[in-house]
Amino acid sequence: MTARRPRLLDRHRPAPAALREELAAGLLAETPRISPKFLYDQLGSRLFAAITELDAYYPTRTEAAIFAARAGEIAAAAGTGCTLVDLGAGDCAKAASLFPALRPARYVAVDIAVDFLVESLDYLQFRHPAMDITGLGCDFSSRLELPPEIGPGPRLLFYPGSSIGNFSPDDAVAFLRQARAASQGGGLLIGFDLVKATAVLDRAYDDELGVTAAFNRNLLNVVNRQLGADFRVADFRHVAFFDAAASRIEMHLEARADLVVRWPGGERRLAAGQRIHTENSYKYTIDGAGRLLAAAGFGETHWWTDDADWFALFWAAA
Ligand code: AVI
Repeated sequence: MTARRPRLLDRHRPAPAALREELAAGLLAETPRISPKFLYDQLGSRLFAAITELDAYYPTRTEAAIFAARAGEIAAAAGTGCTLVDLGAGDCAKAASLFPALRPARYVAVDIAVDFLVESLDYLQFRHPAMDITGLGCDFSSRLELPPEIGPGPRLLFYPGSSIGNFSPDDAVAFLRQARAASQGGGLLIGFDLVKATAVLDRAYDDELGVTAAFNRNLLNVVNRQLGADFRVADFRHVAFFDAAASRIEMHLEARADLVVRWPGGERRLAAGQRIHTENSYKYTIDGAGRLLAAAGFGETHWWTDDADWFALFWAAA
């Protein structure tokens, strides 16, 4: 008898010319910017995994503690035997930690590159031979549409880690509307990082080991490869701070001296101290998160937090 294998669907076809145009437009903007989606090349993904191990970066372990403490209640709200669609699955560890409680019949791991998923899915299929497992490669941050091959709804969409905070609130509502439609009458299980003391937030995004700084500065290596630019990483310093009025962490790369960056067909002058904006990470209150879900059309919600109220996990019915 041959062992069951996970199914792999690759729907991600990045057009290099469109990416180059997007990067050049961002660098030429009045306030220069680079989209955070370029943070996650192979090294960037490894640096992000290292960030989640830092004492300073509390969201990952705090959310994991909520999963562990509340698994039974989460399953009671969300139901068991579902099709679980994991958005940004990575090593699939977060979803797998909920398998004993949710007992999904089908698991669909979605990530930008299907090759990153293969090893984790082979292992999960070995551990859960009866489960229908699919890996789907697609960039759902620009448009979330699930192919019919993953089977009919209702579906439980899983969006942990507070990745929703990397969208502006308006874009978050637009994304959540698409998630609601994609759930086909099911629901959403989603993590929100909560507003807290500024010192805690600042340290989480500017850790003393410099791992977040490396994650941010590696973005320039990605731009050099994708755009053919000549950024020198050493010329830039990592800057991250909580802007309380906007309720967001901002990450920037600040030029250490007057310099010129060149790429085929363009150039940008930066004065010493001028910044390239690379990421926002919005922090919510419980009410604010509830309002965001309601604005996207979700109905009944349940939520759980940790003892310090640093992080919230929401289940929302489509
Ligand atoms: C992926 N995302 C939820 C992370 C965050 O906290 O906004 C990305 C990150 N940026 C710096 N550190 C972590």
